[in-house]
Amino acid sequence: MHCITGFPKSFLLSFVLCLLIGTAIAQETSFGRISQSDSMKIEALLKQMTVDEKSGQLSMFASDWGVTGPTQNSAYKKFIRDGKAGAILNANTVDSVKSLQRVAVEESRLKIPLLFGFDVIHGYRTVFPIPLGQAASWDLDAIEKAEQVAAMEASAEGINWTFAPMVDIARDPRWGRVSEGAGEDTWLGCQIAKARVRGFQGKGFADGRHILACAKHFAAYGAPVAGRDYNVVDISPLSLYEYYLPTYEACVNAGVATVMTSFNEINGIPSTSNHWLLTDILRRDWGFTGFVVTDYTAINELLSHGVAADLKSAAELALNAGVDMDMMGGAFLEHIPGLLKDNKVSLSAIDESVRRILRLKIQLGLFDDPYRYCNKQREQTEIMTKESLDFARKLVSESCVLLKNNNHTLPVPSTVKTLAVIGPLANAREEMQGNWSAAGEAKKCVTLLDGIRNKCGGSVRVVYRKGCNINDNELSGIDSAVQLARQADYVILALGESGEMTGEAASKSNLDLPGVQNQLAEAVIKAGKPAAVVLFNGRPLTISGLNEIAPAILEAWFGGTQAGNGIADVLFGDVNPSGKITMSFPRNTGQIPVFYNSKNTGRPVRPDEPDEKYVSRYLDCPNTPLYPFGYGLSYTNFRYSGITTVVSGNTITVTSDVTNTGDRDGEEIVQLYIQDKVGSITRPLKELKGFKKLLIRKGKTIKVSFTLTSRDLSFYHPDLKKYWEPGEFNAFVGGNSEEVISASFKL
Ligand code: BGC
Repeated sequence: MHCITGFPKSFLLSFVLCLLIGTAIAQETSFGRISQSDSMKIEALLKQMTVDEKSGQLSMFASDWGVTGPTQNSAYKKFIRDGKAGAILNANTVDSVKSLQRVAVEESRLKIPLLFGFDVIHGYRTVFPIPLGQAASWDLDAIEKAEQVAAMEASAEGINWTFAPMVDIARDPRWGRVSEGAGEDTWLGCQIAKARVRGFQGKGFADGRHILACAKHFAAYGAPVAGRDYNVVDISPLSLYEYYLPTYEACVNAGVATVMTSFNEINGIPSTSNHWLLTDILRRDWGFTGFVVTDYTAINELLSHGVAADLKSAAELALNAGVDMDMMGGAFLEHIPGLLKDNKVSLSAIDESVRRILRLKIQLGLFDDPYRYCNKQREQTEIMTKESLDFARKLVSESCVLLKNNNHTLPVPSTVKTLAVIGPLANAREEMQGNWSAAGEAKKCVTLLDGIRNKCGGSVRVVYRKGCNINDNELSGIDSAVQLARQADYVILALGESGEMTGEAASKSNLDLPGVQNQLAEAVIKAGKPAAVVLFNGRPLTISGLNEIAPAILEAWFGGTQAGNGIADVLFGDVNPSGKITMSFPRNTGQIPVFYNSKNTGRPVRPDEPDEKYVSRYLDCPNTPLYPFGYGLSYTNFRYSGITTVVSGNTITVTSDVTNTGDRDGEEIVQLYIQDKVGSITRPLKELKGFKKLLIRKGKTIKVSFTLTSRDLSFYHPDLKKYWEPGEFNAFVGGNSEEVISASFKL
């Protein structure tokens, strides 16, 4: 039986010893060991620091440019000089970081180096597919490697802290930030979260090529009411524990150095002033030893939330809840001294927050060499290397998901002589990176048109028309696009959203293709040529209409620097697609949220009676999504057969044959789901518990086995304890969450 953990023993021991002999002892933290001499260094600094300097250490301000919200303090250089900033947001490149660090370590009284934080979300200079796209690869090694490359590039340009991974589980694609996460499933989300933390932080910071990660946005930011960004989250404790908290906990277990509070409230308490979240759960239950930073001006926003009457009380609430660093708000800097005087906050709480931040600065090596991440030579040699670009291209093709492929429309046949590339996303260089593209430069991105031309060389005549814009009502370009399609013997239609339509503050109530793109698609497809649609988007869109008329659809997300090349590899069959969506594609927005791990209800629809009246269904639409979680096709086919379950003691082995029945080799993401048939509380119809990504040669059969233990069957109960219940279970194996074969077992 799982029991919620208390502080890790090593931490408790250190804590008790600290009380007994002072704080200057060696400490184990989740991200490494702090030696006794380093602890002594921190204690010595704490003794010298004024309360203003301590408040400054707990404050982050933005550099002049690239900010994601209102800049509250442009006087950051003076702050640094006065010891009133612990970290700087959005400064990058060796020269600019060095110039700011120099002020900190040469001109400030105590010479404490700064942290430099940046949103390195899906690559730094080499931009990789958006996280939702990477997740569709189900390739944990590749996802980890993408973060390693991102950390290598960022650390070559002065950055030592990223605000990633975003591990917010999300079931509502109206929320624009689904593009930054791993999708709807908690179990998969945890595996991806750990891979990302490992990628950014490596085994530590000794090589200077890894950076601090930040698990965000704690907590449940991905569940805003109605999918509207920043909206309240109204969630049962059970759902919170079962579905939304585990990904953050996975990051903590993987040693994440920092955690960011979310903008939303839970149970009427904004995360940034939520003691239960930040202290009881994060530190006491999970043993987090790093520091907590707020989201951008989140302390100030406690006023708008209506839980603080003024900024001083907001700062008090945040510090006492467990916030260590104030991002951009200036509230800690301005008010901690007064709050201390008024006995509203304790000196020991302030000192502990400072300690947490200084510890990480020491571990990054900044006290030994504050310019450690400012290396001109690395800046020139480690950015956008051939190896990184080749890897990015591979990740693009791995992230692509083939949603539909009637009559083998794809790959593009080698007999094609004239290929028409049509659509507003075909040559849209500035859109390829999607949102949060860090230091990526749009001009360096390969568009779909470039990628196709690179691939075809001179052997195919490639002609192009935009047809229409991404998002307006202008129809005048459609006719000439149709003419072009008529002259060609194959058409590729590039449709979708603009990069800025997803990400922060990009919620939408209508998820259809924007503008007149559906009209363009309809007219072009009517021309009757073989046609494949390539979709560029950061969220599941509602594409039911398009799905009816398009012979083939390839979901390509926003692929980043190498988008066009990676997609062309798939379109022309050099890469056999293997991606699977990690978020269900709804049939229409009224169905949202639609997700695979739903429950049966007391009145489920009976498959043989789909029109029955008094059951849990819509009158005008099936309950199932257009494309379910885990779905994605290949240029070959896979057949699942012969599922067996064997129980031995506490262990269950589920085995199934998977046969490649087509005529080319292909990779398949074999998924294992479980259903607990009868529980003391209701359980989902299916829950992902494992997957394997396997290359299966044409005509070959592979026996795939998954091993689970009873622990994997545990779930949270109303008392918020996690344990499993004996009984009967179904095991399902398949290539997506709907098309599965099953067998049952008892445990
Ligand atoms: C976002 C965070 C981001 C921060 C700093 C905020 O608006 O919510 O995800 O890390 O800005 O750029």
